[in-house]
Amino acid sequence: MPLVNTTEMFKKAYEGGYAIGAFNVNNMEIVQGITEAAKEVNAPLILQVSAGARKYAKHTYLMKLIEAALIETDLPIAVHLDHGDSFELCKSCIDGGFTSVMIDGSHLPFEENIALTRKVVEYAHEKGVTVEGELGRLAGIEDAVNVSEEDAAFTKPEEVEEFVSRTGVDSLAIAIGTSHGAYKFKGEPSLRFDILEEVQRRLPGFPIVLHGASSVIPEYVDQINQFGGNMPGARGVPEEMLRKAASMAVCKINIDSDLRLAMTATVRKKFAENPSEFDPRKYLGPAREEIKKLVKHKLINVLGCAGKA
Ligand code: G3H
Ligand code: 13P
Ligand code: ZN
Repeated sequence: MPLVNTTEMFKKAYEGGYAIGAFNVNNMEIVQGITEAAKEVNAPLILQVSAGARKYAKHTYLMKLIEAALIETDLPIAVHLDHGDSFELCKSCIDGGFTSVMIDGSHLPFEENIALTRKVVEYAHEKGVTVEGELGRLAGIEDAVNVSEEDAAFTKPEEVEEFVSRTGVDSLAIAIGTSHGAYKFKGEPSLRFDILEEVQRRLPGFPIVLHGASSVIPEYVDQINQFGGNMPGARGVPEEMLRKAASMAVCKINIDSDLRLAMTATVRKKFAENPSEFDPRKYLGPAREEIKKLVKHKLINVLGCAGKA
């Protein structure tokens, strides 16, 4: 099966009350762990690539890894640019075979966000590529950008209809209290489901995207701390909140930090068990297995997309 865009998978997800997992990929072990999990449970997938991932692993290497995963799995897979920050970056990814892009103009004034997003949509749609836009601003760290809590802002529901109709985007990322990275809540986790409900009411049938949706699995944080790490206070979005969002208009749930934690916790443990280990396969192999286990759990128990490929 060739790469797909997100149109069909979002339509089915919306109607079925589940969400597609959008997992960030940076290297071979991550691509393999995610796609082997999806194959075992027959789930559709979005593999997303940030500007930083593209710089680290190079566009062609990531595309070829994903093409290999397509051959191995025969699943519907979309390859998506995560947090595109310019028309030029989006164009380069589209020209290089991505089937979906995010143009993140969420830091721009409303009219400028619309103009930039519209420009990307015009180029992308000509090539059959779907586009995600964003309104509202999440706290946390993305690449070089560190958004402080004071600069974060919830999405204003009264802006979403105009944004979607004037840009022509295929999906919309909104800010309801999640944030990027491993430190999402100082106190009790809480999300503004009232904003999501109001957005859903104003955009019936329209796919919504949740960024910053890692659960920061406590077992991984504990394991990292146990084996020499230092992550006090790391906390993520409880799984039941993600399940609730997936049953509503949220069709795409972005997960990166949990993959990083799974990998790091495993590698730290392996080195602690055998400090003289120097064969990368002996620690990257188990890290890949842990990613596979984690992704299977997410697909089955959190996103609800197992069996939906
Ligand atoms: O939202 C950010 C993603 O976790 C990607 O992170 O920009 O460090 O690759 P990155
Ligand atoms: P996490 O940091 O919660 O994994 O969020 C990832 C994300 O939103 C990628 O765009
Ligand atoms: Zn994000």
